[in-house]
Formats: sequence, structure tokens, C-alpha cells
Amino acid sequence: MSKDTIVNSCKSYKKIIIEIGSGDGRLLSNIANLYDRNQAFLLGVEIDNAQYIDSCNRIKEEVKSKNIQFINEPFENILANFEDNSIDTVISVLPHPKYIDRTNQDVWIPIYKNILDKLKEYGYFLLVTELIDELLQPVSKIDYNLWKNWLLETFSTIGFKIFKVIDDDVPLYITSHYLDKFRNDPERIKIISLLMTKNKNNNNFSL
Ligand SMILES: C[S@@+](CC[C@H](N)C(=O)[O-])C[C@H]1O[C@@H](n2cnc3c(N)ncnc32)[C@H](O)[C@@H]1O
Repeated sequence: MSKDTIVNSCKSYKKIIIEIGSGDGRLLSNIANLYDRNQAFLLGVEIDNAQYIDSCNRIKEEVKSKNIQFINEPFENILANFEDNSIDTVISVLPHPKYIDRTNQDVWIPIYKNILDKLKEYGYFLLVTELIDELLQPVSKIDYNLWKNWLLETFSTIGFKIFKVIDDDVPLYITSHYLDKFRNDPERIKIISLLMTKNKNNNNFSL
């Protein structure tokens, strides 16, 4: 299926869930069965061709449903095809440093502002990200808290309302290739999950 066909068919569903940087596709494949396949469309966008092919093979073997698809493109290009206030949930698990490191924030802040615009009024953005000590030493509690506060402040300034923060963990059902790897080194790799909303009155998130 072409990129345009996928994006257009996605728009006929009541609920749209998009994972940016979807890697080998295991997260969306795992959660696909939680949704009504006639109501919700799950779209994974991955720039790396080999991982994109893995994700297509995975849904052929495991899910076999039309409401989950993957596209091999930069996610910025795909999001540009969606109207403002049209996406229910955006998921980003362990984004590339280009999209989360403090040194690159001038580049990524406008990208997340755009994601906020694309979310429906009661939409959610789930971000799972990690802090790794530069010298590969254990991450101290102080450094973790400084980093966490910087993340919360930055995403609040962008306009997101912080709905839930999960220290050292991820929401139930969230799994990925890199999460499985990072979990083996919990002292030196600290993970945080931020569930953010567009509207502060929103309090009924479920995957
Ligand atoms: C650290 S990996 C995480 C992959 C997966 N979410 C996981 O946890 O296993 C970051 C992923 O983002 C992808 N990526 C980087 N820039 C991207 C872009 N502009 N559009 C789509 N994917 C991108 C990379 O190819 C890589 O697969």
C-alpha cells in the first residue's frame, strides 16, 4: 500500500494512534488487539528501511489486520498530512537524541509543538525516554531529578499538560526492542514515561 493510501484510509477511522520512530513494530503489534479493529487505526512511522521491513513482516505474521500499518518515511513528513486536532494518541518510545537531547532542543521544540497541534482536544502524547550518564557511570538521584524537572518544564512550556509521570518504568503493554535492551542496565540507564495531554480536564486515558 502506498503512503498516501495508508494516510487516507487512516482518516476514515474514529480513533488514530501514531507511533513515531516505531522501530521493529513490536509495540503497535502488541497493543493492536486492545482496540476495536473497526474503530481504531494504528500507524507506525519509521525512517530506517530494515526496521520498517521487520515491522511489515511482523504484522503479516502476527496481527493480520488492515487497521495497523507502517510507513517508511520521516515522521515529520507524515504528520504534515494530518489536520490539526485530528490524532488521538501519539507515542514516542526512546526517541533518537536528535529529538530529545537538551543540546538539540531548539530543533525539537517546534516538532513537539506541531504534535500538540495535531492532537485532538482530548488527545494524548506518550513519551518514554532515557537518561544515560556520559561516562557510563550509575545515574545519581540528583542528576535524575534535575533531568526529570527539565523535561517536565520543557514539555509544559511547549503547552502539554502533564497527566502522569512514571519513574523508572513504562505503562503496562508498552514494550520495544530498545526498552528490552535498556532494562538490563537499570543503574546506568534511567527511563521515564511522561503521559501528556492537550487538555488539562482530560483524565480518562486508556490505551
Ligand atoms: C532508539 S530507536 C527506538 C526505536 C523503538 N521505538 C524502540 O524503542 O525499540 C529510535 C528510532 O527512531 C527512528 N527515527 C529517527 N528519526 C526518525 C524520523 N525522523 N522519522 C521516523 N523515525 C525516525 C530510528 O530509525 C530508530 O528506529
